[in-house]
Amino acid sequence: MNEKQPVKPVLKEIDSLIRARYPIIYLLTHEEARLESLISSLSKKQSKEFHHWTATQGLKLYSTEDVGKYNDPLEVLVHIQKHDAPSLFLLKDFHPFLEDPHVVRRLRDLAHDLRGSFKTILIASPRLNLPIELEKEITLVDIPLPDPQELTELLQSIIDVISKRNKSSVDLKPDEARALVRAAQGLTLTEAENAFSKSVVNDSVLNVRDVNVVLKEKEQIIRKSGILEFFPANAKISEVGGLQNLKQWLGLRSKAFSTKASEFGLPTPKGVLLLGAPGCGKSLTAKAVANSWRLPLLRLDFGKIFSGLVGSSEENMRRALKVAEGVSPCVLWIDEIEKGLAGGVSGSSDGGTGARVFGTFLTWMQEKESSVFVVATANKIEALPPELLRRGRFDEIFFMDLPHAQSRMDILTIHLMKRKRDPKTFDLKSIIELTDGFSGAELEHVVVEGLFIAYSEQRELKNEDVHKAIRETIPLSITYKEELERTRQWAKTRARNADVLHASVSQVPGSKANKIERVE
Ligand SMILES: Nc1ncnc2c1ncn2[C@@H]1O[C@H](COP(=O)(O)OP(=O)(O)O)[C@@H](O)[C@H]1O
Ligand SMILES: [Mg+2]
Repeated sequence: MNEKQPVKPVLKEIDSLIRARYPIIYLLTHEEARLESLISSLSKKQSKEFHHWTATQGLKLYSTEDVGKYNDPLEVLVHIQKHDAPSLFLLKDFHPFLEDPHVVRRLRDLAHDLRGSFKTILIASPRLNLPIELEKEITLVDIPLPDPQELTELLQSIIDVISKRNKSSVDLKPDEARALVRAAQGLTLTEAENAFSKSVVNDSVLNVRDVNVVLKEKEQIIRKSGILEFFPANAKISEVGGLQNLKQWLGLRSKAFSTKASEFGLPTPKGVLLLGAPGCGKSLTAKAVANSWRLPLLRLDFGKIFSGLVGSSEENMRRALKVAEGVSPCVLWIDEIEKGLAGGVSGSSDGGTGARVFGTFLTWMQEKESSVFVVATANKIEALPPELLRRGRFDEIFFMDLPHAQSRMDILTIHLMKRKRDPKTFDLKSIIELTDGFSGAELEHVVVEGLFIAYSEQRELKNEDVHKAIRETIPLSITYKEELERTRQWAKTRARNADVLHASVSQVPGSKANKIERVE
């Protein structure tokens, strides 16, 4: 089964690091069993011994019944130094000992010796814990979640087991099996195995219905992490009024996540930052993008990452990004990014953790080649660190201003039709003139408020009801005026306008030219 996405060949990377005699490699992963089997295959390929160390069992040859030796971390390093044969040493509980200055010293000396040998130390750890003294000696490899190929092999092995037993059966066409693998993307190998097994156990058959079982399982597992969740992409792009430039820009990229597109020479889109007043459709657009591109929508809660409430935030950030890459192609939505960043990035209050975590994110954005399309939204420009806005992070920054007359017309039409009202039966022209300075959310509000008025009087919605609702609404643009003006000025030279600037006045019959147009 060939997945469309190019797979990051992590094994190849480790292979070449070892061949290039990098002495110590730090492998960042939660998946010990998977790592062991990867390294085991590598040791065979390179014809090297494979030694395995844990704090309780000591050092022994991998998958033998030997009694291990050298439980002490210093002892094991001495032994590695003396050992003759070309070998890979996988050290599993070693990272806590990196705080011991004796261990650090020994590793530094050993690193020097190993460069001239065919021995490599591989430290496996779920968290990044590198003392500065060792940063030059140790190379970090962040192990991604299983790729479609690995998940396919896992599924095949489960199918083989089922076929041997007679208790349950398999009923999967090749494209259904691919859908099942796709559903499991973003899970660790163990999680995927559990999800597949669960789908067999519940009804004794593995078939296309289990795609949903696996998806549900995945949603739950991902939600448990506390910072990432699958979000229903339940808005259509046709429900977004105005924002012509943005919609066109997105439209051009809708098919950019395929092998065909990259063969054509298209770079994989990185993402977009949507900046603007509250209620202008930023969150709506994020949902609509995922919906119209038919990609899963993952929401990443920056606020929670930086709050420190969910454990080591750096680890959490790395994990979330790994999951997103595992699920890719997908849309990763970071709503109100400034909320997470406010105060967290300076690093003054939290010993630099905020800055490090944010740095991890920026580096990821910069180097990202995976099909994770980031949609970040922000209301306030002041709160955003300049590094985020630099070229190479987002493909584009869009400024979403309050909708001009033509866009207000669009938005009102959308919201009337959503409530099954025929826009033609309303005097939209008058409504549009009265709603200069209203946001999309406020336009929706006046329609809904009008409905309440009409319903309370037990009659159909009339133009007057909407007018009344407008009179009773103080748009945010009045209270938010200065801030909006600042953002507008900032955006003039640094962002693209999300909407076309000059909506032709003639499209709004009877409107007073220039009064309701905001031409910049
Ligand atoms: N451009 C728009 N077109 C249609 N509806 C809109 C638009 N902007 C806002 N709305 C309505 O207002 C609601 C809130 O908007 P939202 O996207 O949450 O604003 P933001 O994220 O920019 O603060 C949307 O769910 C939608 O119903
Ligand atoms: Mg929003």
